[in-house]
Amino acid sequence: MTEFSWTKNWYPIFPLSYIDPSVPTSITILDKKLVIWRDKNDKWSVMDDQCPHKLAQLSKGTIKEDGTLMCRHHGWCFNGEGQCTTIPMLVGNEALETACNSLRSQVKIYPTQINQGLLWVWPDNSITPFEDSNNKQPATIPECGLDSNSTDWYMSEVPVGYTVSLESSFDPSHAQFLHEGIAGFSPEKTVPISRFETVGEISAETGFTLKHTGYNSVNQDMDAMRQFTPPCCNTTIYEYTNGAKFLFQLYFIPTKPGYCRYIGKVISNQNFSSNNILLNSLPKNLRTGFSHLFNYKLSDQNLSIMHSQEVIQSTLDQSWNKAYFLPSPADLGIITFRKWLDEFANNGPFSENHNNNKYQELTDEQLYDRWYRHTQYCPSCRSAVIFLDKLQKYGQILTMILVVITLIVILIPISIKWGIVSTILAIIIILLSNKIDDIRYLFMSSLPKKGLPIVNLYTDIKK
Ligand code: FES
Repeated sequence: MTEFSWTKNWYPIFPLSYIDPSVPTSITILDKKLVIWRDKNDKWSVMDDQCPHKLAQLSKGTIKEDGTLMCRHHGWCFNGEGQCTTIPMLVGNEALETACNSLRSQVKIYPTQINQGLLWVWPDNSITPFEDSNNKQPATIPECGLDSNSTDWYMSEVPVGYTVSLESSFDPSHAQFLHEGIAGFSPEKTVPISRFETVGEISAETGFTLKHTGYNSVNQDMDAMRQFTPPCCNTTIYEYTNGAKFLFQLYFIPTKPGYCRYIGKVISNQNFSSNNILLNSLPKNLRTGFSHLFNYKLSDQNLSIMHSQEVIQSTLDQSWNKAYFLPSPADLGIITFRKWLDEFANNGPFSENHNNNKYQELTDEQLYDRWYRHTQYCPSCRSAVIFLDKLQKYGQILTMILVVITLIVILIPISIKWGIVSTILAIIIILLSNKIDDIRYLFMSSLPKKGLPIVNLYTDIKK
């Protein structure tokens, strides 16, 4: 039986649109800290995020004008090949040359490639990663008659681990219950999945493919295909009898135990452009940022369940097939994914330390945080926050001007009418400013800003 190697594989680590090339970016993958940056040849480099001098994080450093990455601690510089080029405290060229030529001053680099707008890395420590990575292709969006560039990638980092996250993506029957109130999902519409089957062989390298029927009264006649391509890709295609077609390309990148980076997009032959006139009048990045606010409810529902599931699972002394009771055909995706992990992949990316890792239950504040989950990475959401801050600042200046006008009108009674107008305008601006502050807060947390700090997961349901 082929043993699956978690490190000898391509992982998407960032949509290119999410990376600021002017600064180094830190990333964790398979519990290893790496730094991403672009060198003077505009080539992306991914290397160990630790300086060989005293192990400071290179991602806290600076990209210099000469295109090298400078460590912030004592100014050592490195080129895109990981070679040290400057050690400021060394006296004399000879000593500098000797130190820079030493293997001990080198930073380990990893193979990278750009594909479908994503930066991919091969995070393997062996001595032949560049040769090995040439022999394997990343799991990109398959050709299926849909335009893969029609939508943008979305990325978030969530406090749920690889196994629970991917398993959930092969478990479609939860949607009616966990996502009640979103996209028409409702327990009343539930229809048992009548056919759920594996197609072809299951293997270490190619994963597996599943086909199944729908799970509610709206989609019961659709044909669904769910494909797992190791190490972390789920491609799901829904085809409806009326010709509508949807492809979900989802990556679950194992960052560290209990955490995962999600990168995904949905493409379709249907038109879902928003008809919100206010939203459509904004520049694209702001429009995208504000539209991301609509994604949180579904992802909060997922987090609430998956995190609780993971905390319980981490305390168990028995295997999944003893702990789970899976009697219905709808559970085949869960079983197949778990079997692939057991048979080929050593039970998961962190199996050797998993049993010593009892996951801590997170507070609601940590679980439903939005800044660390998404906003800090997303250029569109960051732009939206900056835009709202500017609006508030201009609002404050305008309010002050209006207050001064009101005072002048009172002190030098020109016309009381202007005093009333400026007072009303000042009140409107103060009210709008409060509203802007409320919207800004939506980019930071799912906990309500006012009232009891309880996340509203289901109360908007209209039966
Ligand atoms: S730790 Fe990086 S230069 Fe000293």
